Amino acid sequence: MTDIRDRKKDHVELTVTDGTQYQTPTGFDQFYFNHNALPEVDHGQVSTSATFLGRTFDFPLFISSMTGGYADAGPVNAIIAEFCETENLPFGVGSQRAMLEDESLTDTFSIVRSKAPNAFIASNIGGAQLIGGLKKKLLKRLTESIEANAVIVHLNPLQELMQPEGDRNFKGILNGIEQLVSDTKLPVIVKETGAGISEHTARRLLNAGAQVIDVAGAGGTSWAKVENYRTSNKTANHSFDEWGIPTVECILELSRLEWERSFEIVASGGIRNAFDIAKALSLGAHFTASAQPVIKAIKEDGYEGLQQLYTTWKNDLKTILTLLGHTNTNELNHSDLKRKA
Ligand SMILES: Cc1cc2nc3c(=O)[nH]c(=O)nc-3n(C[C@H](O)[C@H](O)[C@H](O)COP(=O)(O)O)c2cc1C
Repeated sequence: MTDIRDRKKDHVELTVTDGTQYQTPTGFDQFYFNHNALPEVDHGQVSTSATFLGRTFDFPLFISSMTGGYADAGPVNAIIAEFCETENLPFGVGSQRAMLEDESLTDTFSIVRSKAPNAFIASNIGGAQLIGGLKKKLLKRLTESIEANAVIVHLNPLQELMQPEGDRNFKGILNGIEQLVSDTKLPVIVKETGAGISEHTARRLLNAGAQVIDVAGAGGTSWAKVENYRTSNKTANHSFDEWGIPTVECILELSRLEWERSFEIVASGGIRNAFDIAKALSLGAHFTASAQPVIKAIKEDGYEGLQQLYTTWKNDLKTILTLLGHTNTNELNHSDLKRKA
């Protein structure tokens, strides 16, 4: 059986390759921006700041949960932590399951709080680990190891089913989430990992007490592809490589639900530039999140690689806001987009 540490390491190596990305589009390309030839704003005064769970950040981007739980994860987590502390961005650590199973791995996660004493950091645990209820002692370890500001639960049935060694029982996750909500004072965020969250699923998660839904829809990293690359040709099942609800569909479904329910929508899954971010916010998301471009930039060029990516995205978002006649991200709305014929 593959060790969880090897698996997490494989994931980092594989997700930076184009072959693990969906061919199915996110849906952002269906739209173009409603250019404003008379913006009447001072570009120098345009702000990219945005609020998430009551806190104001410099840019509407959450660095998605990725690493932790193997020896090399510490330095990557340290770069993300230092970066988010400096740039005032929120981020999540990767699944903490490994440190719950082996306490000696706690340092690969707790390093983030020493590098980012003031940042917003979210814990991360899989839905399957909540079946039957997460023991209070483990929940305490999960959140206290990083002095978490929120707890993320990831749902990934597609990925698990594509893993020969993956979980097969998904019964009891919803009750587990409900119990988690009542056992913690921290806000609970529920995310997918790339196959998307429908309105129906979101409704059940909100009834269980989730405060934020991160759609993590299809169009970016395909976890069926990642797992198929890891297995031998014999056991790979490529029929599910494109399975999932495209990110834009998820945003549109959830923003309809937001008319009747109070919660925050994070748009993720294939967020690859500032144009995707602006479109996601215009379609109704409150915030966005991205994983693969971040890990790719760090793998290629460390802290500087991430800095370069962020500078481009920030400058581009500022330009987009100006070209739409807006002074801040709150002003983005449906009328900023037109659907291509
Ligand atoms: C290397 C890597 C490791 C990941 N590990 C986790 C994880 O431990 N927990 C989790 O919730 N999501 C994990 N994800 C999924 C991402 O958080 C994200 O939901 C998904 O990759 C879709 O976003 P993207 O298209 O921007 O990559 C991981 C993603 C990558 C690229």
